[in-house]
Amino acid sequence: MNQRECILWKVFFFVSLIHFTMSSLEEPLGHDKLPSMSTMDRVQRFSSGCCRPQVDNLGMGNCFIEGRSCSTSNSCNEDNEDYTAETYPWKRQTRDMSRGDSFSPRTMTTGRNTLKSGIVDNSFYTSDYQYSQKRNNKDMQDMAYKFMKGMPEFVKIVEVGPRDGLQNEKNIVPTDVKIELIHRLASTGLSVIEATSFVSPKWVPQLADAKDVMQAVHNLRGIRLPVLTPNLKGFEAAVAAGAREVAVFASASESFSKSNINCSIEESLSRYRAVTRAAKELSIPVRGYVSCVVGCPVEGPVPPSKVAYVAKALYDMGCFEISLGDTIGVGTPGTVVPMLLAVMAIVPTEKLAVHFHDTYGQSLPNILVSLQMGISAVDSSVAGLGGCPYAKGASGNVATEDVVYMLNGLGIKTNVDIGKLMSAGDFIGKQLGRPSGSKTAIALNRVTADASKI
Ligand code: HMG
Ligand code: MG
Repeated sequence: MNQRECILWKVFFFVSLIHFTMSSLEEPLGHDKLPSMSTMDRVQRFSSGCCRPQVDNLGMGNCFIEGRSCSTSNSCNEDNEDYTAETYPWKRQTRDMSRGDSFSPRTMTTGRNTLKSGIVDNSFYTSDYQYSQKRNNKDMQDMAYKFMKGMPEFVKIVEVGPRDGLQNEKNIVPTDVKIELIHRLASTGLSVIEATSFVSPKWVPQLADAKDVMQAVHNLRGIRLPVLTPNLKGFEAAVAAGAREVAVFASASESFSKSNINCSIEESLSRYRAVTRAAKELSIPVRGYVSCVVGCPVEGPVPPSKVAYVAKALYDMGCFEISLGDTIGVGTPGTVVPMLLAVMAIVPTEKLAVHFHDTYGQSLPNILVSLQMGISAVDSSVAGLGGCPYAKGASGNVATEDVVYMLNGLGIKTNVDIGKLMSAGDFIGKQLGRPSGSKTAIALNRVTADASKI
């Protein structure tokens, strides 16, 4: 039995377990596989309530959206027909539900609940959807297969903690702490760590030491260390400091482009064409970001077609991968799926990555649906550090520990040692004087601490 079949059988077993016992499941599948967590067998002894972290969750104001008649719910801009039609395409289909095609633009089934007319329809629990003794093994296998079928076997995690994570810190983090953090992250098995940004120190003072950081880490073996470069000046400085991979960052929102990089979207694309041309001459790979792929702190909801346009422009100029950033973390699977569908219609899925900030706690479900749609590159930040200085109210990226924990549970490989990752998170948390933003780190630390008392 290959690994994929093994996972399918696990999911099948999981569904069967619910079927026969109707009990609640408190741990994800695969917790037993967590590397280096010798105490994990003890997890089962603790109830979910006792293990649940009590994190003071990163103070979410109503960042979305200032100056707009827009709430945090899916009711945003109901009057904007274009936006609504693009973003909630299933709204037009109230009856024609095809259970077979999970991500048809016309209909969507998301696990137990079926999205219909923009609201959640619990018909799963009634009629033929309900857990019923009548359901046979074949149905269960079909369900398990549908859940897992689009998922990759391996996910590349792009650790953005040292860059996205630290860029928003008010107090300047000493350069040697940044270097130590990168070294610790490099020892976890991560293959890509975004090290810093070669941007204007007037705009982002925290990363004014980019040259020193890069010079100290660029020789780390077996690891890619991309850096952000907003223009040719930044690109040249990065290369001089030893960078062998760079990233450019555009926005799907005009207002955010102006506030973040002080130019229009088109101007930024033309700057990035100059950067990608120069990079090509030196055989330096360029990653492209699209920010505000769901919402903008100024403009509100961003139509998927705008995201697709910018993603395609970056792809056409030679970016090897396009990372789709929900900069202010307002997306839910309900808005992320249509955005991904629009981008995937014109950029190959294998060239896409997702980058979620966790403002509303939606990153993991957003990542899950992205995986189901075939995306296999995920950005995250150790201990959930992060935020963009020009995106008011946005919180940190999804925590790498939480992503790895979920992927372990799904049987998806990452090659990342969660124990070492947690220790890198502890290190930077102590330096910043703040508890981890990772629920997994908090929970596993508590389990370990409780276990050591026994
Ligand atoms: P500007 O002020 O419009 O540019 O800045 P300028 O060309 O007029 O230059 C002004 C000054 O900056 C000059 O210096 C330049 O030399 C200098 P002065 O003559 O005044 O002394 N300068 C530079 N210095 C160092 N490195 C450079 C550089 N370029 C110019 N590369 C610029 C334009 C883009 C540089 C500026 O707006 C900037 O640095 N912005 C950075 C914004 C930023 O870093 N934002 C956070 C990263 S994006 C993000 O977090 C989102 C992401 O995570 C995805 C997501 O979450 O969605 C990627
Ligand atoms: Mg970001």
